[in-house]
Amino acid sequence: MENREKVLQIKDLYITFNTFSGKVHAVRGVNFDLYKGETLAIVGESGSGKSVTNKTIMGILSKNANIESGEILYNGKDLTKFNDKQFTKIRGSEISMIFQDPMSSLDPVMKIGKQITEAMLVKDNISKEEAKKKAINLMAAVGIPEPEKRFEQYPFQFSGGMRQRIVIAIALACDPDILICDEPTTALDVTIQAQILDLIKKIQEERNISVIFITHDLGVVANVADRVAVMYAGKIVETGTVDEIFYDPQHPYTWSLLASMPDLDTDASDELLVIPGTPPNMIYPPKGDAFAPRNRYAMKIDFEKEPPMFKLSDTHYAATWLLHPDAPKVERPEALMRRIENKKGKAGGK
Ligand SMILES: Nc1ncnc2c1ncn2[C@@H]1O[C@H](COP(=O)(O)OP(=O)(O)O)[C@@H](O)[C@H]1O
Ligand SMILES: [Mg+2]
Repeated sequence: MENREKVLQIKDLYITFNTFSGKVHAVRGVNFDLYKGETLAIVGESGSGKSVTNKTIMGILSKNANIESGEILYNGKDLTKFNDKQFTKIRGSEISMIFQDPMSSLDPVMKIGKQITEAMLVKDNISKEEAKKKAINLMAAVGIPEPEKRFEQYPFQFSGGMRQRIVIAIALACDPDILICDEPTTALDVTIQAQILDLIKKIQEERNISVIFITHDLGVVANVADRVAVMYAGKIVETGTVDEIFYDPQHPYTWSLLASMPDLDTDASDELLVIPGTPPNMIYPPKGDAFAPRNRYAMKIDFEKEPPMFKLSDTHYAATWLLHPDAPKVERPEALMRRIENKKGKAGGK
């Protein structure tokens, strides 16, 4: 892992927003690397800073945002220093993004084919005919039946799942290095959701692109991601491979997320843990470990001092005082342990 090529490096990113109620500390010192050809899932409850982090990478933050500190290194350049003109050059062609609501990224009065070729014609030096051919191939590749006929149709003639496929085709039109998917299946029903997840995985493997997959739903992560970063209150609190996060989670917030989410392996008899309380108001981020007020394992130090990232393996890190050598050993929640055992059993005694 360490000697794989890094396509993106986020260092100490800190983002605030000016609002009438005060300064919102949305992202508070986020660090991660994205490797070539991997899928990194960023998970966390709503409001944890997932979208803001990725909007910063795309250069699409709102006017009231401030980049207080940090670097985003891409091809040797720092994206936090980019102006609009520089971002326009790479957005869509080198780094692409798809969102939750496909309708909002499509022009309702423009034919689908034109929307896909337009992206190509702006960025690539190709003829209209070549662009059309490439677009039809791409439509077929994302699973749109009868692409020649569909090329001439408008967004309203497509179902929600098919629209999301079109959005993916547009995002891929210029062969980006990085594809950011922000809750791409949240608005879709379960069956369609699974199909879109399979498609994203297939595209990632076939094209060897790097994917950042943002979701509040840890349940969908195991099947798409190689690595997971868990975010809480503007920070990454744990990061590891899918196996490390699902079989050996260390941060109490990750425990709660895992135990509170129904997934295919959950038997009806499994009790789902409810995370008590609500995430903090990010105008006044708490001292110490921001999860402490909701954490039944919290110690005095959790309310006073921010935990460092403790290293568990070359790929697994977690920021919780429970990992300090002087901390008492605690048992992970029973509901969580049962689910882990269950999963292990189904995975064939892994
Ligand atoms: N334009 C904005 N103005 C003020 N606050 C914002 C703005 N965008 C996001 N925030 C705040 O930043 C925090 C992180 O938001 P976001 O990244 O969208 O969360 P999520 O993890 O759900 O994607 C939230 O507290 C949110 O209210
Ligand atoms: Mg979001």
